[in-house]
Amino acid sequence: MKYAAVLGYGTVGSGVVEVIETNAELIAKNTGDEVKVKYIVDIRDFSADPHADLFVKDFAVVEADPEVNVVVETIGGLRPAYDFTKRALLAGKSVVTSNKELVATHGAELLKIARERGVNYFFEASVGGGIPIIRPMCQCLAANRIDEVFGILNGTTNYILNRMIEDGLTFEAALSEAQEKGYAERNPAADVEGYDACRKICILSALAFGRHVYPESVETDGITKITLEDVAYAESGDMVIKLLGRAKRADDGKIFAFVGPHLVPKAELIANVNGVFNSVMVRGNAVGDTMFYGRGAGKLPTASAVVADVIDACQHTDKTKYFGWEDSDASVVEDSKKFVSAYYLRVSGESVSSAVTEAFGEVKFLSREGAKANEAAFITGTMSGYKLEEKLAVLSKSCTVSAPMKVLALD
Ligand code: HSE
Repeated sequence: MKYAAVLGYGTVGSGVVEVIETNAELIAKNTGDEVKVKYIVDIRDFSADPHADLFVKDFAVVEADPEVNVVVETIGGLRPAYDFTKRALLAGKSVVTSNKELVATHGAELLKIARERGVNYFFEASVGGGIPIIRPMCQCLAANRIDEVFGILNGTTNYILNRMIEDGLTFEAALSEAQEKGYAERNPAADVEGYDACRKICILSALAFGRHVYPESVETDGITKITLEDVAYAESGDMVIKLLGRAKRADDGKIFAFVGPHLVPKAELIANVNGVFNSVMVRGNAVGDTMFYGRGAGKLPTASAVVADVIDACQHTDKTKYFGWEDSDASVVEDSKKFVSAYYLRVSGESVSSAVTEAFGEVKFLSREGAKANEAAFITGTMSGYKLEEKLAVLSKSCTVSAPMKVLALD
């Protein structure tokens, strides 16, 4: 028998208990041993829950119990998740988590402790919800030098953008729906401002390039400034707006890493990833391009990935599997203004078309029904962020300019 303790009985934690119970027989077969939840740690009152007898309020009970093999951390946030994870690893227990904030912030340190203690720290559910992406990157693609990884990494924002694009819903109405369906973070700013996608691209970057990428070093922009006008302009250019997290090996060995809304040509596979679905593209020097797709949020999809980690941890109680990267600092991240891209801009002002041409030269103008006479939207040629700033300085003398969005172009 293998014993697990679940920390935090929210959407994901309760999903984990449900999957372990519902698929008990199958999980026992795949693990080679029965897996049981011995404790659920949560300070809230669950006396009416069918699992009431499993609840304890004090993590020390789990820490002190030598029978517990695996601790499942689904509390989220940094505190107390960081302390409990550290204590569990130091007590010789493997830890499995869906907590991307913790992995993105303290992953290098926690992985080091796990290695020193001969246990495992697994985090398959921290990126892409139910999509298998961490193990494919660490194991199946281990023969490759990975040069680029990017994707739709947040289900809530993809759901919101999709409802705006397909159904003309307002941002607020679409966000409420995503919250009702249990996709959104406790604080929706983490979704809509791009912080959640930022944490996930940090984890993917660390796996791809072997060095910790800290969230503070990653330029991050969310979807709150996107309007239905932008959606219509993108449509006229056969493009959709998607929030992408991107990381790419730079020529000098550093890493470009950033998060922001992009215009994506409809011909790209990733343009057709809709609703709560996420997708991650990984480019290896031997395999070429690979794409992973699935539900990026939600109770059972996320629990699916967490419980797979529980099974792996139970199968490797005597061995640390290599899942990891070295620690680093902000200098590992390349100045994102050096990244070369085409940009989408929406502007308004007097003689707007000639002002745009004067600043940017030849551009591709977009159109929308009901556009005002003094308004224009266009796609620039490719240029660095520094060049863009120079040109915007000229244009903004006579026009009001929206926040630029990159246009995705794959080589
Ligand atoms: N709020 C996150 C999302 C949950 O919408 O993708 C999964 O990390």
